[in-house]
Amino acid sequence: LRRPLIAGNWKMNMDHRQGITLLQKTVWTLQDANFTFDRVEVAVFPPFTDLRGVQTLVAGDDLPVAYGGQDLSPADEGAYTGDISGAFLKALGCEFVLVGHSERRTLHGEGDDVALAKVQAALRHGLVPVLCVGESLEVRQAGTHVAHTLGQLSAVIGQLDAATVANLVVAYEPVWAIGTGEVAGPADAQEMCAALREAVRASHGDEAAEGLRLLYGGSVKAANVAAIMAEVDVDGVLVGGASLDAGEFANIARFEQ
Ligand code: 13P
Repeated sequence: LRRPLIAGNWKMNMDHRQGITLLQKTVWTLQDANFTFDRVEVAVFPPFTDLRGVQTLVAGDDLPVAYGGQDLSPADEGAYTGDISGAFLKALGCEFVLVGHSERRTLHGEGDDVALAKVQAALRHGLVPVLCVGESLEVRQAGTHVAHTLGQLSAVIGQLDAATVANLVVAYEPVWAIGTGEVAGPADAQEMCAALREAVRASHGDEAAEGLRLLYGGSVKAANVAAIMAEVDVDGVLVGGASLDAGEFANIARFEQ
């Protein structure tokens, strides 16, 4: 069975000191509440400059949380000023890396070809890619959101084998619901996650479809997480703004209580 994944994307917030405090507070809050980390996986995506501090904290205090980078280079090393190799992320203990977040797609012009190259780079370095997909408001209004989002998925997984796809994480983040307070309803999240899973079943078979974890992201809060997580094809959430508050993020992770 798929282990729920509650992930916090800090985006460009929290310097390395603030990041340590936030992570410590989040974990302490969960431990105080006797949170079952074995049942629900908790992960954070801090800025690159925080990762060494996060590694020291997590390894030093043996914290039961995973972490990852918000992006990586398609290349492994070399003359790529400003870019970060997946090898460096792996060396800092990262388990995951976000790929193709809508803010990378819109602000940095990253298309599906770049997302594919980054997913392949992540896999070369033993990182689990969290591939972000989702439609803009215009596409949603045109009613072509399912086809659009499935296209983003197939552009990447079309190049991957079934065993790889089974271990992938895909986050459905409708762009119109990110940071807007506008939440896609649980039924919208379920509609898309079911479509994504069935597309994987058709292209890569049952094992890949049943293993793949699908997250919803976009204005997730403690107040709306339970209804979203109750949907059968939603295996977790990718939380932006609400992950910057330790108490709120801990309450999101405790969606079952
Ligand atoms: P918000 O939770 O702030 O809407 O952000 C969602 C997101 O983009 C997570 O990656």
